[in-house]
Amino acid sequence: GKVRAPTHIISTISDDRGDEPCYGGVKMSSIIEKGLGVGDVISLLWFKRSLPRYCTRFIEMCIMLCADHGPCVSGAHNTIVTARAGKDLVSSLVSGLLTIGPRFGGAIDDAARYFKDAYDRGLTPYEFVESMKKKGIRVPGIGHRIKSRDNRDKRVELLQKYARENFPNVKYMEYAVQVETYTLSKANNLVLNVDGAIGSLFLDLLAGSGLFTKPEIDEIVEIGYLNGLFVLARSIGLIGHTFDQKRLKQPLYRHPWEDVLYTK
Ligand code: ACO
Ligand code: LMR
Repeated sequence: GKVRAPTHIISTISDDRGDEPCYGGVKMSSIIEKGLGVGDVISLLWFKRSLPRYCTRFIEMCIMLCADHGPCVSGAHNTIVTARAGKDLVSSLVSGLLTIGPRFGGAIDDAARYFKDAYDRGLTPYEFVESMKKKGIRVPGIGHRIKSRDNRDKRVELLQKYARENFPNVKYMEYAVQVETYTLSKANNLVLNVDGAIGSLFLDLLAGSGLFTKPEIDEIVEIGYLNGLFVLARSIGLIGHTFDQKRLKQPLYRHPWEDVLYTK
């Protein structure tokens, strides 16, 4: 038989050896001819399968709704400061991306992990939130700097409305809403934030579509695919902020002394 030289890399998501590249086994020409969108491309390259339109539309909504949130948030601020220091596009972009993490935009995976674990174990919202408090862990997906009970996050409302109308089942999202009801009884700003909405709704997408086995869902949650949605989305805005600063020919940023508390 043939002896295959051992390879140094294994790759399973794309292939450029034929006359045209394939994403997840689907030829690029077919992606274009069928009029598929970026949600389909993400499905093929991240989840290694085609997903139904209601799922790819949801993925696209996440990307569109998280693309930007103004100049004052952590990521945009870093990008603006970096662009104003005369750095190039990639440096300005990654400087903003580096702020994405457990407090800002990168709580989606942990929200999915904790909501899934609590729901699957049958914890009441009270038991879940209080057990997190005992462990000294803030509930990922809950809380916001400017959003509150009386100033809800439109992104969350839009995603919830879409899922209620299009997903077969929204049990994880409904559980997250019950958690929010409990946390709102403690403080006004402890709303379900966009990370928590995407985290819980993606669990519903994975479990409800019937296209993922239980071990596959566990692996997606364990590896942590979902922060990728925010990283990808916010790159659109951060690139925009870089161009904006350069177009405006903004000078080097220096923070005002008056805004620093100098103390010993
Ligand atoms: N779970 C439980 N209690 C909380 C939470 C939470 N998620 N968030 C705030 N609190 C409570 C705590 O008691 C906190 O006191 P502590 O500092 O002793 O822990 C108290 O509220 C005061 O916190 P705030 O000043 O209101 O919170 P802040 O405005 O600094 O933080 C933040 C906002 C970072 C979003 C916070 O709520 C949090 O860490 N949430 C979890 C992570 C998360 O979901 N981040 C994504 C936000 S959405 C986005 O970035 C796109
Ligand atoms: C965002 O998407 O950047 C915001 O939710 C964060 C913020 O602090 O407003």
